[in-house]
Amino acid sequence: MKTYLVTGAAGFIGANFIKYMLAKYPEIKIVVLDLLTYAGNLGTIAGDIDNERCIFVKGDICDRELADELFAKYKFDYVVNFAAESHVDRSIENPQLFLQTNILGTQNLLDAARRAWVTGKDENGYPTWIEGVRFHQVSTDEVYGSLGETGYFHETTPLDPRSPYSASKTSADLFVQAYSETYKMPVTITRCSNNYGPYHFPEKLIPLIIKNILEGKQLPVYGDGTNVRDWLYVEDHCKAIDCVLHRGRTGEVYNVGGHNEKQNIEIVKLTIQTIRQLMTEQPAYRLMLKKQVMDANGEIAIDWINDDLIIFVKDRLGHDQRYAIDPTKISTELGWTPETPFEKGIVKTIRWYLENQDWVAEIAGGDYMKYYEQMYSNR
Ligand code: NAD
Ligand code: DAU
Repeated sequence: MKTYLVTGAAGFIGANFIKYMLAKYPEIKIVVLDLLTYAGNLGTIAGDIDNERCIFVKGDICDRELADELFAKYKFDYVVNFAAESHVDRSIENPQLFLQTNILGTQNLLDAARRAWVTGKDENGYPTWIEGVRFHQVSTDEVYGSLGETGYFHETTPLDPRSPYSASKTSADLFVQAYSETYKMPVTITRCSNNYGPYHFPEKLIPLIIKNILEGKQLPVYGDGTNVRDWLYVEDHCKAIDCVLHRGRTGEVYNVGGHNEKQNIEIVKLTIQTIRQLMTEQPAYRLMLKKQVMDANGEIAIDWINDDLIIFVKDRLGHDQRYAIDPTKISTELGWTPETPFEKGIVKTIRWYLENQDWVAEIAGGDYMKYYEQMYSNR
């Protein structure tokens, strides 16, 4: 039985990853290490934790003693490091926390793995490693900076981070690569584009827009809305990590993306249209609306859900203009391709939010409201 340490799995992508892995591999054990920050929610994975195949430990990836204790107790075969401060806007407000978690936390895990996995030295003085172990770092396309109207991020594109968040993720990647070179540590890195799907925290664009529509609020679009992101359904990202972890070459970086570039304004308009369409097909969804005004047919009105809700607000500082991934390497070497077309994925995602408003209410409590007021009141 292979044992995985998965950090940050009470958050968006990590939670989707452990659900995917537990369903796909009946014979694995996963230990989740998560600090349960504002972005972590134990409820998201409560149904997965059975203390046999899936064990939860609340703790900080920066905690050396705890990391050593977990490696000694569970003898991990794999580490998959999702844990991070992940929101660009928050990194602009408080950069230091991003250095702490994203850089020092990653380096602490690398060292704990090194202490646990090294078996000796080879004739050149390099450490030798337990057969088959692997440290996988979950990274981001933001490490490459920002593109103009054309071109793609390749694995060879120079690193050029521009926000405190992306600078911290880049530093973490460089440490992972340094451990690969210096200690011959078996590592891999994936750099993925923007994910969307279930359990996405509503400070990020798509879930924030859905939440605001349901609450009858304005929809804040930064700048002129022409910034481009390359959207990938979260399960496709999980599948890519699974591929790289088990079949990727050690020491390598793999870009992950689905050639699905969209301007932010397109995403917001599509979300508006999709919510209206779903509420037309299934009027019961209208009960999720906070604003319940009746229309001429005696149904809850939805005609106000339109582009007039959009408000262009002050731009994000240093806002990267365009991200676009070239996924040729992972496709040709490992046969990974995205399986969920955006048109299907976005409907699936919005339907999930309409049917899981309890989850949103649980995660977006008082602290979220405070954050929202602070972040958006002076935009
Ligand atoms: P998230 O913010 O939803 O979740 C982060 C999780 O990490 C939370 O559960 C939080 O409690 C936990 N955490 C934070 N600090 C911790 C610490 N010190 N110790 C232990 N746990 C801690 O993030 P996400 O969107 O799921 O992103 C996961 C990873 O994927 C991040 O490394 C991010 O950089 C990367 N990534 C995200 C995207 C995206 O579109 N969301 C795309 C590419 C890469
Ligand atoms: O590209 C991968 C990255 O994608 C990950 O590394 C990050 O962890 C993840 O948060 C995400 O970063 P972005 O900054 O691209 O995601 P966000 O959802 O915050 O914003 C998406 C775009 O929408 C971006 O151009 C900013 C814009 N935006 C965002 C919010 C929250 C708005 O216009 N209005 C908003 O209210």
